Parts: sequence; structure tokens; C-alpha cells
Amino acid sequence: MRVAIISDVHSNLEALKAVLEEIEKDNISLVINLGDLVGYNANPKECVDLVRERKIISILGNHDRAATELKFAEGFNILAYQALVWSAKTLSNGHKQFLNSLEHTRVLWDRYLLFHGAPGNPDAYIFYLFQAKKVFNYMRKKTPGVRIAFFGHTHHPALWQRDIRGKVSKVEISENHLVLDAEQMYLINPGSVGQPRQRQWKASYLVFTNEPETVHFRSVAYDVHSAQNKIREAHLPEYLAERLETGV
Ligand SMILES: [Fe+2]
Repeated sequence: MRVAIISDVHSNLEALKAVLEEIEKDNISLVINLGDLVGYNANPKECVDLVRERKIISILGNHDRAATELKFAEGFNILAYQALVWSAKTLSNGHKQFLNSLEHTRVLWDRYLLFHGAPGNPDAYIFYLFQAKKVFNYMRKKTPGVRIAFFGHTHHPALWQRDIRGKVSKVEISENHLVLDAEQMYLINPGSVGQPRQRQWKASYLVFTNEPETVHFRSVAYDVHSAQNKIREAHLPEYLAERLETGV
């Protein structure tokens, strides 16, 4: 089975559509969204509608949660906060109910753990080695038998591995297929569709195949200028438009 994993769409409709078009050409049976459908960019309603229409399995992100309850945005930086307040005003109650119904952690097919930031906490990050170790330890205790977790939140594509000795390391990633080792554990981040931060502007996502288990990090060009124009028309902070082009 081929599964597409997307994350951090952040109301960028142009980027989401471009990724879904690529996915349609690619014999994909299922799409999974690891959260942060809304926030930052200018099409929150349209992105929620599209994800619901396509029956994409979705996990709750910290921006999704904050859009339904603003107190969760108090720790956001000021630009993220401004965009979040705008998103919360723009979304209908129906959209918010949908976001509110999403789980923050889920085990798929008894084999794959899905979460946004860290298990049980959409605000926590896996950026550094100690954070990856903590999540591997959580998995060994709480979800034994699950070797692979998919997460988002950092907006950086990443692949962490834990080998049979217990050594945790970050694997260099490329756009080639990478076959996973059946003895090892993995934490895998597809990067961000709608606000990539790895100093390139294309929408990032991932294709995962289960037999054998392989990952394929991918990116696709989209109409970034249209997304930028919408941010300006909505009077959202100018930096949110600028950063899309530089991928920061
Ligand atoms: Fe995000």
C-alpha cells in the first residue's frame, strides 16, 4: 500500500492543491494529514473543506487547537498569533467543530503512530536528539510493537532512527527512496506543505510504502505568488508572504 503523508498545510490552498494533484497521479491509496491545517496563510476554510471532502485522515495540530480555543495561542509568536486570530474569525462553527473533533495522537493499523508535535502534546517539538530519544522511549513503553511514528510541527523534513543497540541518530535525507530496516524504530517528518522552512519554497510531503517499508521525501512546485497575494489582500503580516518565497 502506498500512503501519502502531509503536514502543516497552514491554510495554503495553492500548495495543498499542488500536492494533491501529484498524489492523484501516483497510485496512492490513502492520505494522512499530521495537523496544522490552519494558521499563517489565507485559505483556512478552503483547506479544511478540501481535506474533509477528500476524506484525508487528520490529526490535531497546535494551530488547529488554538483556532477553536484562543487561549492555546497565548504562547505563539506575535505573527503566528495575529494570523491565528484572523483564522479563528474566518472559520465557521462547522469548521471549528471539525478541527475540535480531531485526535492529537492515533495508532493506525496497530503499526504506525501519528501525532503532530510529540505524543499527547501538539506543542512539543522533535528537533534535537534528546527529544527524539524521549519519544522513542515513550513508544517502547506505551505503544510496544509500534516501530514507526509520523509527526510534523517543525516544518522540516526529518528521519530519526533507533537501532537495535538503542543508539538514536538523525539520517541524512534526500529525494531518493529509502528502505527502512525491519529491526529499527523510526520517527519520520514529511516537512510542511504550506510553509516549508528548509530554505526552499516548494511544498514538502512524503510517500510511504509498507511492503517493503520505504520512504520517499518529495517536494512539488506551486503558485507561491498567488498564495502571497492572498496574504496581502487579507492584510495578514507581510512577513508571512515573504517567508513563503524563501522557505524560512
Ligand atoms: Fe505548523
